[in-house]
This record gives sequence, structure tokens and C-alpha cells, in this order.
Amino acid sequence: MALSADTHTSRTTTKLERYNSYIRRVNNTKLLAASSKLLFRATLLIALLLVLFFTINYPPLPADSSQFHTTKNFLSSALYGSGSGSAWEKQIRHSATPRRPNGFSVLVTGAAGFVGTHCSLALKKRGDGVLGFDNFNAYYDPSLKRARQSLLSRHQILIVDADLNDTAMLQKLFDIVPFTHVLHLAAQAGVRYAMQNPQSYVASNIAGFVNLLEVAKALDPQPAIVWASSSSVYGLNTEVPFSEHHRTDRPASLYAATKKAGEAVAHTYNHIYGLSLTALRFFTVYGPWGRPDMAYFFFTKDIIQGKPINIYKTPDGQEVARDFTYIDDIVKGCLGALDTAEKSTGSGGKKRGPAQLRVYNLGNTSPVGVGRLLEILEGLLNVKAKKRVITMPANGDVPFTHANVTLANRDFGYKPATDLATGLRKFVKWYVGYYGVQARVKKETQAS
Ligand SMILES: NC(=O)c1ccc[n+]([C@@H]2O[C@H](COP(=O)([O-])OP(=O)(O)OC[C@H]3O[C@@H](n4cnc5c(N)ncnc54)[C@H](O)[C@@H]3O)[C@@H](O)[C@H]2O)c1
Ligand SMILES: *[C@@H]1O[C@H](CO)[C@@H](O)[C@H](O)[C@H]1NC(C)=O
Ligand SMILES: *[C@@H]1O[C@H](CO)[C@@H](O)[C@H](O)[C@H]1NC(C)=O
Repeated sequence: MALSADTHTSRTTTKLERYNSYIRRVNNTKLLAASSKLLFRATLLIALLLVLFFTINYPPLPADSSQFHTTKNFLSSALYGSGSGSAWEKQIRHSATPRRPNGFSVLVTGAAGFVGTHCSLALKKRGDGVLGFDNFNAYYDPSLKRARQSLLSRHQILIVDADLNDTAMLQKLFDIVPFTHVLHLAAQAGVRYAMQNPQSYVASNIAGFVNLLEVAKALDPQPAIVWASSSSVYGLNTEVPFSEHHRTDRPASLYAATKKAGEAVAHTYNHIYGLSLTALRFFTVYGPWGRPDMAYFFFTKDIIQGKPINIYKTPDGQEVARDFTYIDDIVKGCLGALDTAEKSTGSGGKKRGPAQLRVYNLGNTSPVGVGRLLEILEGLLNVKAKKRVITMPANGDVPFTHANVTLANRDFGYKPATDLATGLRKFVKWYVGYYGVQARVKKETQAS
């Protein structure tokens, strides 16, 4: 029985095998016919997926693509690249990797801006790794921001073109590089423009800052953050010189109000999440690669072009004065603040202990009247300005600023070293070189 059963089974098996091989042959023929169609469709699908993948993973690359071989890198990563080793990520790591022992890895927001460019260069020069972040907005001539970007790229610093509102991008950058520090300088600056475009101040200075802090607080480890507040937070304060403990609850402009809000927001993230946060209240920063919306800059332009210049006086007839601070002094202050910043104490959104929270003035400690500013520029350009003295409109400008920098001096040896005449000489030298106006200045000099 057992044998016959076996024989039966074996016969059945043979039949089944023959049947199966028949089916296979039929299927193979069908498959062969279908396979070319299928292969074609699969190739199309894979190509589409690849395109989609790289569109998502490759945000706009820097304009100065010669430095970064955009096309070549794009192609080579499309062919050989895996997500984590993509050319874009390599550029980011290259830019952010320190070249000195125990060097920092710093994310500099607003790196295409005036202060951001100078700080990025100074950090890179001493061996820290720097990655820039900027949205290149058109608040002032974006070509100046692009020129600063080219300057940075010549020093192996990459600027990612993105907005602070882009949470996914910020998270991705922190995924690629575990930044030790953030130097947060991106903001909507300028006092007067706040009456024209108030929402841009709220978007960048409050919502954008909160967005950055939300990303930072969730990290493990959390970075230490140094960021730019402003002397404008002193608002209608009349005690002089301005000290950190003075009242800052009377802002005179929406710009000042958003910076003051930033200080309050910083307090909260320090308190709840253990983020190490340092606010620097800059006083009227000026110098080469400066901002075209600031008086020293457009005075220079207008003097050269022979346009009349408005000099503001206060409603009670006093001269408007500013504690003009040279960019190199500000850079030293920023680096000093970074060097003395303690580690954040939280991780993954949980505070583990009290963290550092600081506020410092960074000024020059010697206010200069706008009349004197103009006089120095006239001397440097060798052109007499056409002046018009008018009463300051109620646009948010304060009559004067004067910094007490005792705290910054005590904690990181901050000591402003450049007076206005010396600093403006360096600015004018850069200005005539950058805009190529040397000839015109000379011509006008001969004419007068
Ligand atoms: N220059 C001064 O006199 C002065 C004085 C006080 C405070 N500050 C503060 O110092 C910081 C740097 O000032 P600056 O003079 O270099 O100004 P800046 O305008 O030259 O630089 C700011 C940069 O941030 C970028 N940016 C703005 N909003 C952004 C956003 N939402 N996302 C990404 N990038 C964005 C801009 O494109 C710009 O390049 C600012 O926070 C400013 O408010 C400057
Ligand atoms: C983010 O900012 C950019 C400008 O840089 C703007 O175009 C975009 O609409 C903003 N997105 C959100 C969600 O606010
Ligand atoms: C400057 O600030 C320090 C520290 O806040 C303070 O002790 C000092 O009195 C201030 N100096 C002046 C001249 O106000």
C-alpha cells in the first residue's frame, strides 16, 4: 500500500511537474513579451522618482555656482549619489567643519547681511566651521548681498538660500551638521521701513526667531545661541549712558518692539528648554560692506551725486546723535560672546538644569552728532555737501544713543578700538572701490 501510494504520488508529481513547466514556459513567453513594456514603464517611474527626489533634496544652490560646480555635482550625485552623501550635503559639511582643535561649528543666519558677512569671515579665519543662512530678500539691493556671498564663497563659506520660516530646511541642516553654536543675525532691520512693511518685522524678527528656537530646543545636543538685539530697545529711555538694567519697555518703533519681543522670547526658551541664549544690543554699526539704508551710507552716495542731505534735529532743536560702532569692534564682541557662551542644558525639548541667559550692549561709548558725521564724510570725499536741517519726523527714530559697555568688557574684554573718523575712512575707501566712483570723486574734487 505504502509502495503503490508512493508510486501514485510519484506519478502525480511527474505530471504536476510537466504541467508546471508547461505553465512556466507559457508564462515565460508572455513575460518576455510584456517585459519590454514593463521595463520601459519601470525605467520611466524610476526616472520620475529620481527627479522628484532631487527636486526635494536640492534647494536652490548659491548663485556663485562656479565655486561649487552645481551642474557637475548635480549630475554625479544623480548617477552615483545616495541621499546622505549628496554633493550638496558635502558642501555643507565642508563649509561647517572646523579646522582648529576644539573649533566651533557655527550656523550664521543673515550671513549675506552686513554684520553676518564680517562675522562669518572672522570665524572662518580663526579656524571655526561656518555655514551661512540667508533669504537674500530685497529690502535693500540684493546684488550687494550676492557680492558678499561671493566674498564668503572665496573663503569656502557656503550660504544656504532659505527663509527662517522654513522649518524643514533648518532641521535638515542640523541633521547634516551638529552645530555647536548659532549666531543668529537674520532679521528685518531698519527703523523707518517698519511703517511701510510692518508684517516683515513680525515675520522675521518674531515668528522667524521662534521657528529657529523651536528647532534648536528639540535637538540633542542643543546649540548655544548668540543673537542680535538692538540699542533701539532703549526707546524713550533718557538715562545715559544706556545700561543693560535700564528700562526697555518703551520702544519707539515696531522694529524696536520686535527686538524687545525677541528678548522676551529668548527668556522663555531659556527658562523652559534650557537653551543658552545671549542677546547683543548693537549700537549703529557701520563699515565696509555696510547697509545702503543707513545714514552714513546714503549720505556718502548723495554727497558724491551732489544731492541735498537732510540733517535731523529733535523737536526741541537738539542735534540727533548716534553711538556709531565700527564693524570690527562688533565682530570682536560677537566672537567674545560666542567664546564665553556656555552649553545649553536641555536636550530633545527637555530642560536638565538652569542655562545661561545674557544681554550685552555692544557700542562705541562716544555718541557723535549727525553734523559731525557729515563733516567727516565731506573731508574724506573732498566734496562739500548740500545740507538741509529739518525737524525729525515721528518715524520711530530716537534722538540719540550712547552705550555703557562695562558688562561686555567685564565678561569678554570688549573694548571698542575704532573712532568714527578712522572707521569712516575705511568705509569710504571700500565704497569708492566697490562702486567704482573714484574717478567721479576726483573730478568733483578738481571742479570745486
Ligand atoms: N547694523 C546695525 O546698525 C544694527 C544695529 C542694531 C541691530 N542690528 C541687528 O543686527 C543684525 C544684522 O544686521 P545687519 O546690519 O547685518 O542687517 P542686514 O539686513 O545687512 O542683514 C540681515 C540679513 O538677514 C537676512 N534675512 C532677513 N530676514 C530673513 C529671514 N526671514 N530668513 C532668512 N534670512 C533673512 C537678510 O537677507 C539680510 O541679508 C540684525 O538682526 C539687525 O537687526 C543691526
Ligand atoms: C516664507 O518666507 C518666504 C519669503 O522668504 C515667503 O515667500 C513664504 O511665503 C513664507 N512662507 C510662510 C509659510 O510664511
Ligand atoms: C555702566 O554699567 C555698569 C554695569 O551695569 C554700572 O555699574 C555702571 O554704573 C554704569 N556706568 C555708568 C556711567 O552709568
